[in-house]
Amino acid sequence: MALIVPSILSADFARLGQQVEEAQAAGADRIQVDVMDGRFVPNITVGPLIVEAVRRHTSLPVEAHLMIVEPERYLEEFARAGADLIIIHQEATPHLHRAIQRIHALGKRAGVALNPATPCVMLQDILTALDLTLLMTVNPGFGGQSFIRESLPKIERLRAMLQQHGAICDLEVDGGVAPETARDVVRAGANVLVAGSAVYGAPSGVAAGISALRAALA
Ligand code: DX5
Repeated sequence: MALIVPSILSADFARLGQQVEEAQAAGADRIQVDVMDGRFVPNITVGPLIVEAVRRHTSLPVEAHLMIVEPERYLEEFARAGADLIIIHQEATPHLHRAIQRIHALGKRAGVALNPATPCVMLQDILTALDLTLLMTVNPGFGGQSFIRESLPKIERLRAMLQQHGAICDLEVDGGVAPETARDVVRAGANVLVAGSAVYGAPSGVAAGISALRAALA
């Protein structure tokens, strides 16, 4: 069964702790914090302080998705803040292998994300060192965008690459994941689904949002 990872990007930040607790109570598997610097993506969000705050309100693993340039500058801070899994973008650093080594040296799990136009082959020489690969199925920066359906064959290609290399890492998908798209995403090969607006924007609340995703995958 695929893992469901609510992204707090669409949460009510005026009551973030409660929103994180709601997601855990509703059966979320992990919590994702979307970190944006206004340079790698055209939006600015949060930093290590919010990871610390989220950490205080859940016993679930916390992922820090760093949509920032030169992420190697902040690995220690996010590790110290309580992130269990640090995800950086392949496009954001010329020294990806060294950054993954440093995340592991900090005792954390390491993930690499690809933007929609970045081919899976960019991961082939780092794949077996990763705990997670993340395919963006929207152009990163904002929640509530439409799923890029052309991403489905890319998910299939990455799943095939993982099998070919004997890689056991997660294949996570992020962007536009909703009950209408979740089944196709998992069929294509994803085993972890990030959902922001489908959870925190669900009309009937967080639990209903997570339940609807689970139902779509049943
Ligand atoms: C980058 C962010 C979003 C967020 C999920 O844009 O990474 O993808 O996590 O947002 P939704 O699920 O609302 O597309």
